[in-house]
Amino acid sequence: MIIYECEDYRAMSRRAANIISAQVILKPTSVLGLATGSSPISTYGLLADWVARKDLSFAQVKTINLDEYKGLSPEHDQSYRYFMNKNFFNRIDIDMKNTHVPSGLATDLEAECRSYDALIEGLGGIDLQLLGLGRNGHIGFNEPADTFTLGTHVVDLTESTIEANKRFFASEDDVPRQAITMGVKHIMQAHRIVVIASGLSKADAVAAAFGGCLDPHVPASILQVHPNCILCADKEALSKLPDRSAVITV
Ligand code: GLP
Repeated sequence: MIIYECEDYRAMSRRAANIISAQVILKPTSVLGLATGSSPISTYGLLADWVARKDLSFAQVKTINLDEYKGLSPEHDQSYRYFMNKNFFNRIDIDMKNTHVPSGLATDLEAECRSYDALIEGLGGIDLQLLGLGRNGHIGFNEPADTFTLGTHVVDLTESTIEANKRFFASEDDVPRQAITMGVKHIMQAHRIVVIASGLSKADAVAAAFGGCLDPHVPASILQVHPNCILCADKEALSKLPDRSAVITV
């Protein structure tokens, strides 16, 4: 595990964008696993700027997103499909048919989960997975639980996640109570994982995930045993990490 301590959100975003661009330059047909939330917005913005400057191309890249809220259509401004189109896909040269987000409107959610797993496997797995970190240590929408769930699944969102994500909705009642998320199997099978975390609100989650034991009640803790995982975090997010031996200040 490599932990980069970056000065601030901007520097964290640049570090993550550099790693993703290197991946795409070295393997233009990469399969990228992508995340939503406020954390990756600047990373996507930088990558889009580099595409606009013709320094980078996603023309042959395929993407697979982590998750989607149940019940939200792609046109809903809080759906993750809408987020991805707005913040990334519409700003780069990717072929939209090569972008994948689970359908929150599927009538048979179990079938949607199985077909999402088949889709990931059909793509040959994920070359690089970008992850944000929930305040309760979730990754995608893999919420704290007694066991890790391997495949794509429907999840009941925890009160803490509903509370954290209500800032994006008109009211707490508007936050969907369920979501579809990729499970830990496909996340952990990614060849490389890049986790981004910024701000004091993530400090407890970072400390629990990367400074504690492997524990399904802190889903991100499983990343400690991934052979090629990089955490790009800012000083505030790393401020409670008990053991700094793996930290590289950049
Ligand atoms: C949501 C997403 C996660 C994301 C998390 C953190 O719950 N499902 O994939 O990592 O939010 O979001 P933020 O970056 O806004 O803190």
